[in-house]
Amino acid sequence: MNALRCFALAAAVVVSCVVGCEKSDSTTPSAEPASTAGEKATSGGEKESFTIGMSQCNLGEPWRVQMNADIKKAASSHPGLAVIYQDAQNDTLRQRSHIEEFVSSGVDLIIVSPKEAAPLTPPIAKAVKAGIPVIVLDRRVLGDEYTCFIGADNKAIGQAAGEWLVTQLGGKGRVVELKGLMTSTPGQDRHSGFRKGIEDSEIEVVFEADMKWLQPDARKEMESALARFDDIDAVYAHNDPGAYGGWLAAQAAGREKDILFIGIDALPQEGVQYVKQGILNATFEYPTGGATAIETALQILHKQDVPKEITLGSRLFTKENVEAGGDPIAAPASVATE
Ligand code: FRU
Repeated sequence: MNALRCFALAAAVVVSCVVGCEKSDSTTPSAEPASTAGEKATSGGEKESFTIGMSQCNLGEPWRVQMNADIKKAASSHPGLAVIYQDAQNDTLRQRSHIEEFVSSGVDLIIVSPKEAAPLTPPIAKAVKAGIPVIVLDRRVLGDEYTCFIGADNKAIGQAAGEWLVTQLGGKGRVVELKGLMTSTPGQDRHSGFRKGIEDSEIEVVFEADMKWLQPDARKEMESALARFDDIDAVYAHNDPGAYGGWLAAQAAGREKDILFIGIDALPQEGVQYVKQGILNATFEYPTGGATAIETALQILHKQDVPKEITLGSRLFTKENVEAGGDPIAAPASVATE
């Protein structure tokens, strides 16, 4: 181990202990970067080093790995900032404890991407009551007891997906909807937005199932849909892993060429590649918000006002526009670009 890695490890252990030594579960928080975090203040008394606790609901999907990478990259250009990462491994109770631990250890700010809305609402509200600002990223909680919400407009994305499909199918067809976890707000909004997008058409959703954002679940659900229906024109999946799972099932049945596949996320190394390879017909970008979260965190920590809600934009990628970088979808009123 070279000297630099040795130093980084030692520093990470120190910061992990500041925040995580009383943890009861087996996951180890990781801290990045740790070297300059602490309680430093300027000569004017204003604090200039901060510790952020980042609660990620899971790291099992590429999109969430990308979110943490985006946070890490943005934080790395601010030497006074240490970020402690916790991964709840898709376990709501574990994520609740992570937030409670961040509060009891006295981090300066919490960023949380919650697994589900209802169960994560109380610990987040408690953190705010304890005086710790909370940025809620990507999936919402109930009510408004948080400092700032950052995410793309999932209803608008769902609606754009519906409208795109209406055009592709000439206003008529049979669709399978593979839904994201319906106790999470992106699942609910991508569903209701899509239904709005197809409402004036003769498109019929013949099969719908909650695949909980997971590719293997999506594949299984699609196998059932294929077994029940001989004529499926399109699959609308709430994320790209789900769309790919659906495609795998259709391919195994020799039916992938008869069906259009639509997903959401459009990571350059995932959904955008699927479009380039002709696996997906369309994917809609869902920005991670990682960089915006760090910029917003710094404003909050420096006592600047931030909006209660920051809406990120989205782009549609199809085979026609993918090489040129996709096209923006109709933007809501105020949109931040990452
Ligand atoms: C990853 C993910 C993404 C999706 C987002 C919604 O866990 O399922 O694929 O866009 O969460 O919150």
